Amino acid sequence: MVEGNLARNFGWTDLEAWYPGTNPCPGPARASLSLKPITRHFEAGTSNAIEGPVSESYIQKLFAERIGGETYGKSTAIYKFEKIKRAKRQAIADFPDRSLVDFGIGENDEMAPVPVREALKLAVDAPANRGYADNGILPYQEAAARYMDRNFGVKLDPATQILHTIGSKPAYALLPAVFINPGDVTLFTVPGYPVAGTWTKYLGGIVHNLPLLPENDFFPDLDGIPPEVLAKAKILVINYPNSPSGKTATREFYEKVVVFAKKHGVVVIQDAAHLPFTHGAKPLSFLEVPGAIDVGVEVHSMSKGWHMIGWRLGFVAGNSLVVKALGDVKDNSDSGQFKAIQMAAAAALDDDSLWRNAQQKYQRRQEMLVERLRALGFDATMPQGTYFLYAKAPKGIVNGPVFEHAEAASQWFIREKSIVTVPFDDIGPHLRFSVTYEAATVADEKAYMDVFSERLAGVQFQF
Ligand SMILES: Cc1ncc(COP(=O)(O)O)c(C=O)c1O
Repeated sequence: MVEGNLARNFGWTDLEAWYPGTNPCPGPARASLSLKPITRHFEAGTSNAIEGPVSESYIQKLFAERIGGETYGKSTAIYKFEKIKRAKRQAIADFPDRSLVDFGIGENDEMAPVPVREALKLAVDAPANRGYADNGILPYQEAAARYMDRNFGVKLDPATQILHTIGSKPAYALLPAVFINPGDVTLFTVPGYPVAGTWTKYLGGIVHNLPLLPENDFFPDLDGIPPEVLAKAKILVINYPNSPSGKTATREFYEKVVVFAKKHGVVVIQDAAHLPFTHGAKPLSFLEVPGAIDVGVEVHSMSKGWHMIGWRLGFVAGNSLVVKALGDVKDNSDSGQFKAIQMAAAAALDDDSLWRNAQQKYQRRQEMLVERLRALGFDATMPQGTYFLYAKAPKGIVNGPVFEHAEAASQWFIREKSIVTVPFDDIGPHLRFSVTYEAATVADEKAYMDVFSERLAGVQFQF
């Protein structure tokens, strides 16, 4: 999907969870569609030349309903990331001499640290690292186990309780395949990284959204789930530190999740992609809580904490039965990540200074941004985790436009001030600011913030 590629640049890959009910690929009844002939023109004289009108490709009729059936690719709706992209283009055209202040991109802004790159260089030349990795190599699993033990006091058997995945994203595609039959329910916190929800639907399952509301401190209301939903629920997907709210979990919340999972027979999948970015406290793993290992797994990513975002590696840790079944499904989907990358990641996991450096950098940047936003009247508070800052969107500007939703505010920021944010309207209007902008030194970061403040000097926001 085009939307998927755009969204990836902003740290997400599927938009439907942000806009419930506006699935870019609704599955209409086949019978209702009539295909119009279209005309194709090929360069005369080439072997592909076709004269006159031809029917639209028969392939269009073959698409599965899960991606829209015959109407696949024909939606004219414009999704939020496309709107942002267009507004960015317009801002560049309108103000060619004005730099973009880009808080939109949800991707780390630097390369993996030197020791990790050096470890890769060595591993690339090792003959042992040629060939399929299949379901992974022990050195990486052992390094993951050491990381979990050192940082969380969680003791795991590397062979049976840890499985590598090609980034954590595929884990969210494959775990529903392990559990979801048609009609089964995935309990899913929103806003949230949407892949597990999308795959639940692909498999004929049902996604039951659990809104993360500020008034509930961004925790889901597990007690408010209707009994008929609970009866069909098989998995619960949670994410802490939470993206985009920046909220971290508490031990009490995780204990409650374990009790809930046991009571209702639900498997817990905790998305720990941002766990290294826990600010002002020791990171808390779900697996630290007694009983967690009986009810689920935690999915870790090398992308964020070690700046290995394009390297594609993660690991699933926890319940050995879940890990085994995931391995069986995964084995039918991919043949593993290049062993040299796993060896480099093992070196990364063995050096806690690496994720600590990344954490300090993003905390510093968030602190600077909170200060600047507060000076502008935003009710911005320091996030407990992630590299996102999630703040209530302004309702308008004194003697200026009114913003009916976050998207309107975000569009104004881009078009009028060349400042990029990502709007969220699903639980009240919010703007997400990512501090992954490019700035080589602390002085550059300050300069970036100065440009931001100066650009908004004199603007009186209404909240
Ligand atoms: C909350 C969250 N979970 C999971 C992922 C997937 O990360 P990766 O596949 O790079 O490990 C992302 C990436 O943006 C994310 O933001």
